[in-house]
Amino acid sequence: MFLRWNLALFLAFTGSKCYFSEENYTEESKMQQPTVVIAIIARNAAHSLPYYLGALERLNYPKDRISIWAATDHNTDNTTAILREWLTVMQQFYHYVEWRPMDKPTSYAGELGPKHWTNGRYEYLMKLKQAALNFAKKRWADYILFTDADNILTNPETLNLLIAENKSVIAPMLDSQSAYSNYWCGITPQGYYRRTAEYFPTRRRYRTGCFPVPMVHSTMLLDLRKENTRRVAFHPPHTDYSWPFDDIIVFAFSCRVSEVQMYVCNKERYGYLNVPAKPHEQVEDDHVNFIHLYLEALIDGPPMYVSPYIHVPPKQTDLMGFDEIYLINLRRRPDRRDRMLWSLYEMEINAKVVDAVDGAALNSSDIKLLGVDILPGYNDPFNGRSLTKGEVGCFLSHYYIWKEMVDMQLDKALILEDDVRFQGNFKRRLRHLMEEVELAELDWDIIYLGRKQVNPSKEEPVQNVKNLVYVDYSYWTLSYIISLQGAQKLINAEPLSKMLPVDEFLPIMYDKHPNEDYKSHFLNRNLQAFSTSPLLVQPAHYAGDPQWVSDTETSTLWDNDSVKTDWRGSYKTLKGGTPPAGVQSASYRDEL
Ligand SMILES: *[C@@H]1O[C@H](CO)[C@@H](O)[C@H](O)[C@H]1NC(C)=O
Ligand SMILES: *[C@@H]1O[C@H](CO)[C@@H](O)[C@H](O)[C@H]1NC(C)=O
Ligand SMILES: *[C@@H]1O[C@H](CO)[C@@H](O)[C@H](O)[C@H]1NC(C)=O
Ligand SMILES: *[C@@H]1O[C@H](CO)[C@@H](O)[C@H](O)[C@H]1NC(C)=O
Ligand SMILES: *[C@@H]1O[C@H](CO)[C@@H](O)[C@H](O)[C@H]1NC(C)=O
Repeated sequence: MFLRWNLALFLAFTGSKCYFSEENYTEESKMQQPTVVIAIIARNAAHSLPYYLGALERLNYPKDRISIWAATDHNTDNTTAILREWLTVMQQFYHYVEWRPMDKPTSYAGELGPKHWTNGRYEYLMKLKQAALNFAKKRWADYILFTDADNILTNPETLNLLIAENKSVIAPMLDSQSAYSNYWCGITPQGYYRRTAEYFPTRRRYRTGCFPVPMVHSTMLLDLRKENTRRVAFHPPHTDYSWPFDDIIVFAFSCRVSEVQMYVCNKERYGYLNVPAKPHEQVEDDHVNFIHLYLEALIDGPPMYVSPYIHVPPKQTDLMGFDEIYLINLRRRPDRRDRMLWSLYEMEINAKVVDAVDGAALNSSDIKLLGVDILPGYNDPFNGRSLTKGEVGCFLSHYYIWKEMVDMQLDKALILEDDVRFQGNFKRRLRHLMEEVELAELDWDIIYLGRKQVNPSKEEPVQNVKNLVYVDYSYWTLSYIISLQGAQKLINAEPLSKMLPVDEFLPIMYDKHPNEDYKSHFLNRNLQAFSTSPLLVQPAHYAGDPQWVSDTETSTLWDNDSVKTDWRGSYKTLKGGTPPAGVQSASYRDEL
């Protein structure tokens, strides 16, 4: 029995095999990926390099198939040291590293500033790019990727995606803080930028794909295996060249005469490029723009990360002349707190997090114990709008800050809610504003930095202070600065016992609320209120955005724990416009 069983097993096994061979033949192995040279040419890029290099090292591509060609010159900042530090660590991973630093001089002949482009500078850059191209050709690299030092390729698949398109010259469309990007859709017969109907639909991704265009720059991949790319050059310019003397235009012309079509792709989000400072500006302006780009990337994603191989010195934060900067945050929203703290740190602003009063954690009897009562008449049975626990929590959060200011006799404070988007150059603009306010000896209690305007046309500019208006009825309390005198006035009004949402209370106190009934409960409506114009902060998310969460509108009623509220479509939470005339619904206030 045992034997027969074994024999059957033996036959079963051998029967399924090839009789003639004991050998196992292995399958063909996979192809290695094409070889790539990445050309790094950096000047005065200390602010962006940690993010730039961080993104390069995270490209999902075997590093032993990549050579780095890196040059830097004419720096006044720490660019050389940062690049050197990174390359020293990374050279063990990459196939080969070519390093061409030049410490002196720190400027070009005839240059008016580091953002000024002389012909000598253009020519030098053309020669550098040509040297990188020659290097790649000589090493028989399959591809060369040019990518400027302020282009942050946050999408780790960028290189693979571009290669997969199989084009001679292809650029990933990069996002920026504005309409600016790294391609043109039109070019004039003289070689200048020409605006076309395709530009914005492409930039905004209303149409997506890979499109032939007359110009790409900043980040682009050249396929050196294609016959015609052997002819393209950055330097010297083609003998027929009469267009502007600019490296990107010289190269676009060279592609044209070499019958190489440039392409731009916007199928995915590949990364960012910083809007360059203007020729008369400074490297510092690039830095300020870059911070804005970084903050925007934190909101709309994907975020940028610094390379772990670069030592980034800690920033020096300050209070910008305020006695305190308060960041109101609900403990259960740590994602918002973290984003705001990163953003403020990046701008070198020091804020104190105050735990918001969490309305959702209060029941109606807690609320009454705190001495809160609703403003008579605010509870309107007709439009269904009443006070929510979230609104009570929000009011108390602001109120306790005013109270702390009074208790501690703080002269002026900046208050920020935790879901705001900062305008570019926030810190500098706010500093200038405060200087002018001081100089004009303006008597102010509160200055809004972010709110929803209701009647923009009714708001008069303030004499002697640029970008400041007398504020009319507004919604929201995203951000404002407040003086001790202002805080005192708000406390003196004893608002807890006649509460309505805090963004309705403030307009009552500066006497611009349209509802006379509400106003009649507050006697001294003499708050001196102003607003920046343009506003310095916006909501990071609006109702309807996927990430929008409102702790005030989606809540429960202040005096009934079982009645849920959800006003996410209300006029107040939406992005723009005024309510249509004559519309009355639960979402529009009776006073409008
Ligand atoms: C063939 O492959 C089998 C299973 O992978 C293994 O057990 C066997 O030893 C191999 N034979 C030779 C000759 O390599
Ligand atoms: C310059 O960069 C190097 C390398 O990253 C770093 O060690 C050094 O602290 C930096 N210096 C300044 C002034 O930022
Ligand atoms: C890539 O393009 C070339 C022409 O430039 C063509 O010959 C080749 O077949 C293409 N390869 C793929 C994989 O599509
Ligand atoms: C409200 O919550 C408090 C604790 O915060 C609790 O002591 C009290 O019983 C609750 N009241 C009601 C009516 O649920
Ligand atoms: C809360 O609202 C519900 C539903 O409208 C109602 O039935 C209930 O009586 C209310 N409770 C109180 C304490 O007012």
